[in-house]
Amino acid sequence: MPTRGSTLETGVLYCEDNLSRLAHMPAESVDLIYLDPPFFSNRTYEVIWGDEAEVRSFEDRWEGGLQVYLGWMRDRVQEMHRVLKPTGSLYLHCDPHASHYLKQMLDAVFGPEHFRNEVVWKRTPFSGSSKARAQQLPRSHDLILFYTKGKTWTWHPPTLPYSQQYLARFKWKDSRGYYRKTLLKTYSQETLERLEREDRLIQPVRPGAKYSYKQYLNESSGRVQIDDVWTDVNALNPMARERLGYPTQKPEALLERIIEQSSDKGDVVLDPFCGCGTTIAVAQRLGRQWVGIDISPTAVNLVQRRLIKATNGAVRASLVGLPTTADALRTLKPFEFQNWIISKVFGTSAPRKSGDMGIDGYSFMVHDPIQVKQSDKVGRNVVDNFETAMRRAGKTTGYIIAFSFTRNAREEVARARVQDGLDITLVTVQSLLDAKDEFYGPLMPKGAVVTELPLTPPTSGRALPTAEELVASDKGAAAATA
Ligand SMILES: C[S@@+](CC[C@H](N)C(=O)[O-])C[C@H]1O[C@@H](n2cnc3c(N)ncnc32)[C@H](O)[C@@H]1O
Repeated sequence: MPTRGSTLETGVLYCEDNLSRLAHMPAESVDLIYLDPPFFSNRTYEVIWGDEAEVRSFEDRWEGGLQVYLGWMRDRVQEMHRVLKPTGSLYLHCDPHASHYLKQMLDAVFGPEHFRNEVVWKRTPFSGSSKARAQQLPRSHDLILFYTKGKTWTWHPPTLPYSQQYLARFKWKDSRGYYRKTLLKTYSQETLERLEREDRLIQPVRPGAKYSYKQYLNESSGRVQIDDVWTDVNALNPMARERLGYPTQKPEALLERIIEQSSDKGDVVLDPFCGCGTTIAVAQRLGRQWVGIDISPTAVNLVQRRLIKATNGAVRASLVGLPTTADALRTLKPFEFQNWIISKVFGTSAPRKSGDMGIDGYSFMVHDPIQVKQSDKVGRNVVDNFETAMRRAGKTTGYIIAFSFTRNAREEVARARVQDGLDITLVTVQSLLDAKDEFYGPLMPKGAVVTELPLTPPTSGRALPTAEELVASDKGAAAATA
């Protein structure tokens, strides 16, 4: 049994399996949990940063089938239940593939009496292959299962302004303003007399029918309570400004609603499958404390960048659990490794392999090409190919990053410098790990200074990139790859 912490540290992004992290968290320390786990939908999501189709996918398949998936989820949900405060709430986001099984599992862990809602979120547009759509109704909704730990919970009913359709019902007007006619279902003699005195009573349309009364628009709140079918929150469209390219990214508006209705300012929000950090970004904006967990270094690094940009550099998470040794880096999936390296140098990943074969990313601000190899003894042939890629890209400076290089590779770099005017730097992974001040990692404390590192922009001794520079660098890299 792991030792459990006594206080919960917030503002932290953990890069590890959420089961082990949850097991270390203190009981009853979290106000709200939103989880968007892999869906058991048998889908494979493309991750944009990878370079080989078979390794750049975010898998949503389960060896061993449904029972294994449910057991895997149950272990984690039990820990989530433990860390929730007695007034806390949990929202589990899923789709119709497994929602009914997950609900049974949640009933068993939380108690069926603590089930509050099954929210139907109508995403647009609908998904599924065109073949599937031809033979059945197109699927256009996800489900969000809402449970509370106890019998009382934090709750701020969400509302929307009256729709035009609803407003159209206030079609009568007198000196007091627009009103609608509302049927009096039950009433006492006293009520009728009061309404009569107030000039609000409307006589029955025929003998034996019921009375109505004038309900004025200017006396109502102007808002209606939102029910459990959400049609007003659009999924991210491909051009949305908040889109980061992370597969399965959810819209901020969805998290806004959940966080606002089920927590107060200062409360602790936990997302144990945080992906690219939609929950974290919204919790930060709405003044909540937060904790994020994701097993993918790519995701965790992306959340850090998202936070830095969103807060103009004012907020940086503490990152815990990212790989810190060469051996740990060797075990990463290829696309995770590549993303780790590119993120370490504050570079930008090449969106996809294009004609300039062999460019995996671009350096910070100056956008010189970078090639990443998750291997040892990288030889002359790799350097040769990279030279070709650089020429095609019209670049004379570039970097190859790997665990080690052969003497032949170094000789070829020297030759290319003298004879072809190509300036290629071979960077070992170990040198990135050893880098002073952690320039290469977002772990570097705010205000720390970068010194003499191979991939820094020409000026040395400068502070960490600002949010504007990160944005400008991303835009520049996009232009470089266009
Ligand atoms: C559906 S995505 C979450 C997307 C997120 N809601 C967003 O808006 O970006 C699921 C995430 O769970 C992560 N994940 C899968 N298994 C995990 C585990 N055992 N522990 C922590 N995270 C895990 C994946 O890396 C992935 O980022």
